[in-house]
Amino acid sequence: MKFKIQPTDVTFGAIVSGIHLSQLTSDLLDDIKEAFLKYALLIFPGQNLSSKEQVEFAKIFGEIEYLVDNMETIPLSNRSSNGRIMSDEEEQIKLLKGNEIWHTDSSYMPRASKASVLSAKIIPDFGGQTEWADARAAYDSLEKHIKEKIDTLNATHNYFVSQAKIGHQVKVGAAYGFYEGKPPIYPLVKIHPETNRPALYVGRHACNIIGMPEDEAEELLLFLNAQIVKSQFVWQHSWSPGDIAIWDNRCLLHRARPFDSSKERLMMHTRIRGNEISETALNYR
Ligand code: OGA
Ligand code: MN
Repeated sequence: MKFKIQPTDVTFGAIVSGIHLSQLTSDLLDDIKEAFLKYALLIFPGQNLSSKEQVEFAKIFGEIEYLVDNMETIPLSNRSSNGRIMSDEEEQIKLLKGNEIWHTDSSYMPRASKASVLSAKIIPDFGGQTEWADARAAYDSLEKHIKEKIDTLNATHNYFVSQAKIGHQVKVGAAYGFYEGKPPIYPLVKIHPETNRPALYVGRHACNIIGMPEDEAEELLLFLNAQIVKSQFVWQHSWSPGDIAIWDNRCLLHRARPFDSSKERLMMHTRIRGNEISETALNYR
């Protein structure tokens, strides 16, 4: 290795240093891709990449998933374009509030995301960390009879429902992910297409289990989400401006932590498209 990898003290994640992401050679690319599959979360402190460089970095891992207005990288910010810190009643803040609940990106889309890249630009003094949780280790820790019960079950994922749960009624077309089509269905247990490791695939967008009464499904989803976010499977990063992270949405959940809403937090987000077979919803194949 030509760079330093410091694993975290949990079951996934590593801090990478001694490398600059805007100057990568092909042998370094292979090492980074390998580390990404091994650790599922890589944090690169102090990179200060431009948006263009961030997209170039993201493209190492696959094609870009185009977000709002076909943008490759979007700002996650509580400041409006005219410079005002937005209030909790505004649409954009309600969407950001949703990010504070454990989820995996684009599981509400017909093709879920492979990975996400997030970089810090402006960070409030208190709060605003990001946390990730290991859905592979959580699956491994389940008792055999639970694994057998869930191995063949499928859930619908629905962004309208997950926002409604936090009091945000969203109309079709209001933002990325709020579309007219039928909600996608994904297996509760996702086999990672590259490592073959099983992981729980739930998070806040999972809202129904096919063929199961609603209350029973809700209880099971609550239980599975709680398994993933047990403290031994969770890791938190406190951002400094310039840091950039990439994580594997196929096997981790993540969430933003709250912060003083009178202060600015600005992050840049890029999403990497899922594979046409392994990340496409069962009812869209
Ligand atoms: C995301 C996300 C969390 C954060 O970028 O998909 O959920 O800490 N971000 O901003
Ligand atoms: Mn997210």
